[in-house]
Amino acid sequence: MVSLFYFFLFPLLALCTTTSAAALPLSTESRWIVDESGHRAKLACVNWPSHLEVMVAEGLSKKPAEQISRNLGLFEAIGGLQINNPSIIDLSLINAYKAVVGSLAKKNVMIILDNHTSKPGWCCSSFDGNGFFGDAYFNPNLWIKGLTQVATVFNDTPSVVAMSLRNELRGSRQNVDDWYRYMQKGAEAVHAANPNFIVILSGLNYDRDLSFLLKKPVGLSFSNKLVFELHWNGFSDEEAWENGNLNRVCGELVGEMARKAGFLLDQGYPLFLSEFGVDMRGTNVNDNRYLNCFMGWAAELDLDWSLWVLTGSYYLRQGVVGFDETYGVYNWDGSGVRNQTILHKISALQYPFKGPGYSEVGLYQVIFHPMTGLCVKRLSLVERLVLGPCSEAAAWTYDRRKTLTIIGSYFCLQADKLGQPAELWIVCSGAGSKWEAISDSKMHLSSKLKDGSDVCLDIDSDNNVVTNHCKCLDRNSKCDPGSQWFKIIDSTRRE
Ligand SMILES: *[C@@H]1O[C@H](CO)[C@@H](O)[C@H](O)[C@H]1NC(C)=O
Ligand SMILES: *[C@@H]1O[C@H](CO)[C@@H](O)[C@H](O)[C@H]1NC(C)=O
Repeated sequence: MVSLFYFFLFPLLALCTTTSAAALPLSTESRWIVDESGHRAKLACVNWPSHLEVMVAEGLSKKPAEQISRNLGLFEAIGGLQINNPSIIDLSLINAYKAVVGSLAKKNVMIILDNHTSKPGWCCSSFDGNGFFGDAYFNPNLWIKGLTQVATVFNDTPSVVAMSLRNELRGSRQNVDDWYRYMQKGAEAVHAANPNFIVILSGLNYDRDLSFLLKKPVGLSFSNKLVFELHWNGFSDEEAWENGNLNRVCGELVGEMARKAGFLLDQGYPLFLSEFGVDMRGTNVNDNRYLNCFMGWAAELDLDWSLWVLTGSYYLRQGVVGFDETYGVYNWDGSGVRNQTILHKISALQYPFKGPGYSEVGLYQVIFHPMTGLCVKRLSLVERLVLGPCSEAAAWTYDRRKTLTIIGSYFCLQADKLGQPAELWIVCSGAGSKWEAISDSKMHLSSKLKDGSDVCLDIDSDNNVVTNHCKCLDRNSKCDPGSQWFKIIDSTRRE
């Protein structure tokens, strides 16, 4: 059985939801992924590995597949495939895989297949023989054959919406010419086998570099089905977040993301941030700092995304049985989620700010707070500003005079005194009325008071919006500006 399916499986699944049920199949309209009715389907996904040595979706020993799919990140316990998924034990690998996908399909979860490795095992290193076309375990012809077969198998399963052709291309063999050659071939093969699929293409250098597309687009015989993917984690830049000045590091790395991949949005392609994640214990300073910068960026660009990773442990990883996955949404035994606070924060990114079908009202701005995943909200009776869910965000216009006015009212944002609440005044002019995004990160919203001093928008311990001294504008690497980071984000979503 193993030899028969050796070259057949080893994908990873991404399980996706959208804020409202999407009519399938999906396609693309400029930089947006849209459903059959033309409405934006913002993909909010979580990765579910099944590419390790055991080659079965992780966690099935801990929980019934139905429940994993229903809860998508929530509860329930106890071990043994035999207890929870007895029917899977007797299946061949492909049927086990189909059984998992089938149970997800029943729960209206959308599935993206990802060809993760050829030789099953923990991914990825530059020397594992799985990194690029022509590597020891990566024969391009077998790959195309495998993609074709898998695309065909899921031909009649509409909830399998997309296929990522290969995870994290890497290693000494990687080159741009072969990238075009084989990615185009692979994309054509998948499209021919299953024209409903969205085809997702990964970049070079562990899916961190798509810059070569700036000069030469991909040439395909079909349209409206192509998406590019990008990976960005805290550890991608080693300890940069912990060791550097956060405003500076965030500004530099966001700039790099724009050059390496973000430009694709302007060219009219969707960009799927298919792996990002943090240590869910909440104790990894580098990850925590990265996450705040990432949240601002992902919200501003309103990206489709997939969190790494669903499972809290692996049957077997790098020789360790029951390996603990600290980036897992679930805890080790699947009895609960690891960190509700972090999940809640990330869930802010599920909300589409704009895109087809979200344009009933004109363009306005919301003020997003990445550290909490909340938005600035107006408490109208007392005319105070607090943080609240972005679905309740105040709708602002941010105009050329740099004032922030609540749409449909005269109320505007005014800084009055240091350490005091940011106020809503009827007429804003002069000192304290103009707001500018400053610092290397461009995430401090700053205004000048009458006495000439600069203040920055901040929050107090009750999530009231206040004005304080601007933090971390020097080169200090110890300082964390998180509470003062805000992003003015374009939105067209009806309230
Ligand atoms: C993944 O690629 C390998 C070749 O590297 C191929 O043998 C396998 O069938 C493919 N699997 C899927 C699920 O696409
Ligand atoms: C969750 O993460 C936060 C940091 O974002 C941390 O303060 C908290 O202790 C973590 N909670 C758990 C249960 O690990």
